[in-house]
This record gives sequence, structure tokens and C-alpha cells, in this order.
Amino acid sequence: MRVPRAAESPRPLSCPGMSESGASVDDVERAWQDTKLAQVLYHDWEADSYDEKWSISFDERCISYARDRFAAVAGTAGWPYGTALEIGAGTGFFALNLRQAGVIDEVHVTDISPGMVRAAKLNAARIGFEIGGRVADAEQLPYDDAAFDLVLGHAVIHHIPNVELAFREMLRVLRPGGRIVICGEPTTYGDRIARTLSRATWWTATRLTRTPLLANKWARPQEDLDESSRAAALEAVVDLHTFQPRQLAATVRRAGAGEVRTVTEELTAAWFGWPARTLEYAINPERLGWAWANFAYAGWRRLSALDRMLSHVVPDELFYNVSVTGIRPPTT
Ligand SMILES: C[S@@+](CC[C@H](N)C(=O)[O-])C[C@H]1O[C@@H](n2cnc3c(N)ncnc32)[C@H](O)[C@@H]1O
Repeated sequence: MRVPRAAESPRPLSCPGMSESGASVDDVERAWQDTKLAQVLYHDWEADSYDEKWSISFDERCISYARDRFAAVAGTAGWPYGTALEIGAGTGFFALNLRQAGVIDEVHVTDISPGMVRAAKLNAARIGFEIGGRVADAEQLPYDDAAFDLVLGHAVIHHIPNVELAFREMLRVLRPGGRIVICGEPTTYGDRIARTLSRATWWTATRLTRTPLLANKWARPQEDLDESSRAAALEAVVDLHTFQPRQLAATVRRAGAGEVRTVTEELTAAWFGWPARTLEYAINPERLGWAWANFAYAGWRRLSALDRMLSHVVPDELFYNVSVTGIRPPTT
């Protein structure tokens, strides 16, 4: 999961369904059969509210998060990388923060959703630098062979139907010796645990806040709850995979990468963070002020530190996030 907000009040999703994103009812119908169309419609719809939903910022909080996650799997050698391409870049969270951290110089973002590419370019302009940006499917990148020193991704390959094909494309556009770094993907067991905890939190919070004693102050309006439920149902359509670290590493090797390595992160931090985030959507946001936001952020940070110690003894498959890196062998 991404770093929880430091101190903002949560907001429900503002749009009840993809048909209000500008997509026709026919598009939405077809999207149930066509996963790529679903990705475009869903993420176009999300683009404007995405940063707020996931507490994305371009300040020290997210700069250090992006830098630490990158360094955890790929180390700090070779910084800054000259030219970097991000696949499924969304609003630019990973590449723009890595650029600010001094990890990369020149940023090119791609995403299958035009709305996301627009949002990433806007964010870059707000921070004060220019980036290249194209609408592109990660399974078919519109770039020459050997064009980049680094290919990046964050929370993206679980949306891509043919993961091995996407890695082959990433290796093709990398110069020999160049590196792939993909972070923030859900592990199979970690995701199962987080979803179970989130469902239990939703069930408990929505029932408790309907009781006469709490309903007035703590209940969220039913239309907000319906909206959140619909958003969760749509998420289930676009979330295609979870990963077992060893199998992910094998896929990246099969695609042709060398020096492949995976790292997993967030165990208790995910057990705390996902239910905390679910609670924010389940109860009246006015009841959760700064005190809650600070508590959630501090709790997540402390538990992340504990998880780093636990990683020496707990099996890596149980952690929530997996990152993977590899290089294009110098001779290919
Ligand atoms: C969960 S979001 C992550 C966005 C961003 N990387 C981040 O961490 O904030 C996944 C992104 O992948 C994009 N995506 C989904 N399928 C894709 C594909 N086949 N090729 C490229 N991008 C894709 C979506 O449009 C969306 O912006």
C-alpha cells in the first residue's frame, strides 16, 4: 500500500460510476469483456481524484517513500540514471518523486489511460519541470530499442494481462546493462490478508455506525457507502494479478533479464494501514480529523520500521508489497 496521508480529511469518491467519466453506456458494457478498455475507462475516471484518494504528494513524505522503496530493491549505485521510462505511471507518483530525490534525470511517463498521462504532465509542470509523456500499453511500447537507462513501474503490473510480454518490452527499450525496477505490487498472501481485514473493518464499522446511539454522528450517508462499494467492485475488474515473489522473479528471468532480485515490504503496516484506510471510507469523515490522520500516519511508520526487523525472520511471501529488479544483460 502507499504511504497513508499525514493530515488530511478523507473524501469519498466523487463519481459513482464509469459512465459518468465521459464513457458511453455501451463502452461500459464492453469493458466487462475487454480488460484493456476497462483499464482505460476506470483509470480515466480516477485520474482527477487519484492523488487525493491515495494521498499522493510531491513533497518530502512521498519523495522519501519513493526513494526508499527504489533503494530497497535496486540499491543506490548508479544514481542518477540518465533517462527513465515509467510504465503505467498514473499521475506520476513514482517517477516525479524519484526525479526530485535525485535518482533519475530525464523522465518519460506512459500510461494506457490518457487522463492519467495528462495528470502526470500537469503534476510535473506544477513541480516545475518538463517530462515526456505518451499514452501507451506496456505490452507494446512505442519506443526504439535500447532507448532508456532505466524502466520503472509502481503498482502497475498487476493490471497487465501478459506480464511476461510486458517485461520483454521493458527489456527491449532498455540499453544493454540498463535496469528495470518495479515496486509496490501486491503479493498473493499479503493481499488476501489485507482484503480480509478490510472487509471485516467495513462490515463492523458500517453496522456499528447504523446503531441508534452512533448513527447521528458517525454514520456516513448511504449514497457515499454505495459509491465506495461500486468503486470496490470496479477495482476487482481491473486488478488482474497478485504475485508470489519467487514466481515473479522466474517470470522476469524468462523474459530475458539477468541479476533478478525481489524484496517484500509491509507486514504489520499493511495489517494496520488497509483497515485504517477502509475505516476512512466507512464512517462520517467529519469525525476523523487531524488527530486521526496523524495517528494513522505515525502508526504506519512505526509498524513499517518493525516490519523491517521482522523481515529477517518472517517468510517474504507474507508481506504485502513485492518489488522486483533485473538488468538487460550487457550482451543482448
Ligand atoms: C494502480 S495505478 C498506479 C499508478 C502509478 N504507477 C502510481 O503508483 O500511482 C495503475 C496504472 O496502470 C495503468 N495501466 C493499466 N494497464 C496498463 C497497461 N496495459 N499498460 C500501461 N498502463 C496500464 C492504469 O491506467 C493506471 O494508471
